[in-house]
Amino acid sequence: MVTPADTRTIAIFGATGQTGRVIVRHLLAQAESRPLQLQIYVRDRAKLFTLCPGIDTKPHVQIFQGALTDVEVAKSTLSGAQIIVSTLGENDNVPGVRVLQDGANSIIAALEDLKAQQKGWQKPHVFYLSSSTYNARFAAERPPFVHWLIKTAFSHPYADLAKAQARLLESTSLLSITLIQPPVLIEEEGTGHEISTESVRLAVSYEDLGAAFMEMVLEDRYQELLAVGVSSKLGDRPARYAPEIFRRIFWGMLAHIKSLVF
Ligand SMILES: NC(=O)c1ccc[n+]([C@@H]2O[C@H](COP(=O)([O-])OP(=O)(O)OC[C@H]3O[C@@H](n4cnc5c(N)ncnc54)[C@H](OP(=O)(O)O)[C@@H]3O)[C@@H](O)[C@H]2O)c1
Repeated sequence: MVTPADTRTIAIFGATGQTGRVIVRHLLAQAESRPLQLQIYVRDRAKLFTLCPGIDTKPHVQIFQGALTDVEVAKSTLSGAQIIVSTLGENDNVPGVRVLQDGANSIIAALEDLKAQQKGWQKPHVFYLSSSTYNARFAAERPPFVHWLIKTAFSHPYADLAKAQARLLESTSLLSITLIQPPVLIEEEGTGHEISTESVRLAVSYEDLGAAFMEMVLEDRYQELLAVGVSSKLGDRPARYAPEIFRRIFWGMLAHIKSLVF
């Protein structure tokens, strides 16, 4: 017999994004056969309902809507969660972007309150969508110029990621964390996922990244790792990915230069 103590409660931030929606789809399927409780933060409930029709009728799902800076909404989302998944983020090089800092600040403030208020409170584990650019081992495999190009073309979201990640990593009394550090994210069919602490390929599809997140969320052994890369098994196809990578770098560099000039 399943007791409430057996239930794995998972708080999810970023559920309506391209990575997050795949994770939610997988976890909803898993919840048919194992005791999972999903507590989902969104800023727009209607978007989630369009992406996941019928999700509001599932007994094991709770949805919390509000501003990302609203600590009370974060507290409701996080209450009782053993696992936190964050796939919040911004892909374009938008000056001043702070979605990740806002998310990290709210999560930390909410956990401080929950820790102070709830008897028997236990530290949750966070699976946090980061980037291979912030993994020294993975980045060292790139030619230095390519590394510089990527860091510069996405300078604003990377600045946001660096600050948010640093805050979470130093909050050791409130949470433990595994950074998920993929290479280029691509919209295409999955070819199978690879989780590695040693290396990443050129690209990972959202399908494969979402499947990898699900595996890590459900298996406790991944909580011992501070940082992992996730790639698609067929993620090393430069000719296939180059046009999309160059397009993103071109527009990212333009945005970077504009933000320096204006
Ligand atoms: N692009 C790449 O090649 C690449 C490579 C490695 C790592 N990454 C990392 O991946 C992340 C992006 O992942 P993704 O493509 O899955 O993202 P995405 O599809 O853009 O989804 C982002 C999620 O964050 C939410 N969000 C954004 N701004 C918000 C705000 N101000 N308040 C509340 N929620 C907000 C979005 O909500 P809505 O749905 O309501 O907008 C959505 O759920 C980036 O942060 C980047 O660091 C990207």
